[in-house]
Amino acid sequence: MPILSPVLNKDEIEAIVTGIAENISFDYRSKNLVLIGVLKGAFVFLADLIRHLTIDVEIDFIGAASYGAGTVSSEQVRITSDITIDVAGKDVLVVEDIVDTGLTLGFIRDHLAAKAPNSVRICALLDKHERRQENTHVDYVGHGVQEGFLVGYGLDHAERYRQLPAIYHLKSE
Ligand code: PRP
Repeated sequence: MPILSPVLNKDEIEAIVTGIAENISFDYRSKNLVLIGVLKGAFVFLADLIRHLTIDVEIDFIGAASYGAGTVSSEQVRITSDITIDVAGKDVLVVEDIVDTGLTLGFIRDHLAAKAPNSVRICALLDKHERRQENTHVDYVGHGVQEGFLVGYGLDHAERYRQLPAIYHLKSE
């Protein structure tokens, strides 16, 4: 039987998202910001984040899939769905639900940097340290966790639990 152990409740997430949105709104107050959500997990975080911004932004999405050792490592990453906005000369902020090994974000950052934006930075709600392989710098971090499989608020296990309004550590009994 799976057990859901609370990590962040709705109010804690709301406070984190509000704080990140304030920082982004200030840092990009005179920029042409394009927010790029990484499918699928980031869709809930991105949807909440943009409603707390006080600046105008463009929104796009990118899909990435990883090959490799399945559950333990994303050895190779490929783009499954590219952005459609022209980001040349604009400021890009990649929005992720979670950074784990860092390989997905590292690949996406390089992929987007090749499209000649003015800048590429990274925002992640959750920064998990235990399996980090690539030293991908995350510019805006919501909450750091050391370990565990997290679900809810967009994060899934086998496509389940994304709809939960809070974030949980999924454990098996
Ligand atoms: C998760 C998460 C990141 C990636 C992070 O996506 O949303 O994109 O894994 O892992 P990494 O740092 O080890 O590369 P997932 O592949 O589970 O797809 P999903 O967002 O569709 O759930």
